[in-house]
Amino acid sequence: MGKLWIGTNWKMNKTLQEGLDYVKELLAFLDALQPQFHTFVIPPHTSLWPIREATRGTRLFLGAQNMHWAEAGAFTGEISPTMLQEMGIDLVELGHSERRQYYNENDYDLNKKIRAAIRHGIRPLLCVGESLTERQFGVETEVVASQLKISLHGVSSHEAAQLLIAYEPVWAIGEAGKPAEPAQIARMHAHIRDLLCSLFGDSGRRIPILYGGSVNQENFLTYLRIKEVNGLFIGRAAWDLASFRQMLQEIHRYALAEM
Ligand code: 13P
Repeated sequence: MGKLWIGTNWKMNKTLQEGLDYVKELLAFLDALQPQFHTFVIPPHTSLWPIREATRGTRLFLGAQNMHWAEAGAFTGEISPTMLQEMGIDLVELGHSERRQYYNENDYDLNKKIRAAIRHGIRPLLCVGESLTERQFGVETEVVASQLKISLHGVSSHEAAQLLIAYEPVWAIGEAGKPAEPAQIARMHAHIRDLLCSLFGDSGRRIPILYGGSVNQENFLTYLRIKEVNGLFIGRAAWDLASFRQMLQEIHRYALAEM
């Protein structure tokens, strides 16, 4: 596996000025650190253009939180892959559980979004994960397999090189989330890896699988040490730059020791 991916989804947080201040400080820090991993931030749509300008040509990857699959059309409130491509966006987060839960995002539409993103040279960061009820009923592997098989349907092995996957169990995300046990993460990541290899052969071996859901100061290194984990996708614990910086610093030391 190549480099680790470490990033944060701001969700519906931070005004433009707050976002710009955050990114400016983060860039200064990353320049000094010369990190051995990929770092990304995913701001709300309204901040994307100015943050793109502030981050162009830097080592920070920039992502969007959602996108429509069509190039243009009568889709009020949506943003197209063409618009994100024009901005030079690096990646697009698709299928976050909050979008599935509150906006009825489904795997069939995600399939169209993923293929559109790939066509436009934008890396899809696909989020998958089971609900608490699904885990209680013992169908978590089937649920995640189904999410992956439908949303990645028709993606070629060559195109699969663009993919990033995040395993985010719904029960571990957000204020009400309960941090997952390392063994639960290891098992599901291994399952996802097997599935990606069955879909894409050798290319499936190289797709980064990130973990997200209540990653915090106490557990981030434990999670990163899990062999099957290729990166972290952090919400709340990275919204405060001082907290994110501290994690990045330790991850940098860890990555150097692992090289
Ligand atoms: P939390 O880290 O706040 O649980 O959120 C994780 C997440 O949703 C990342 O996409």
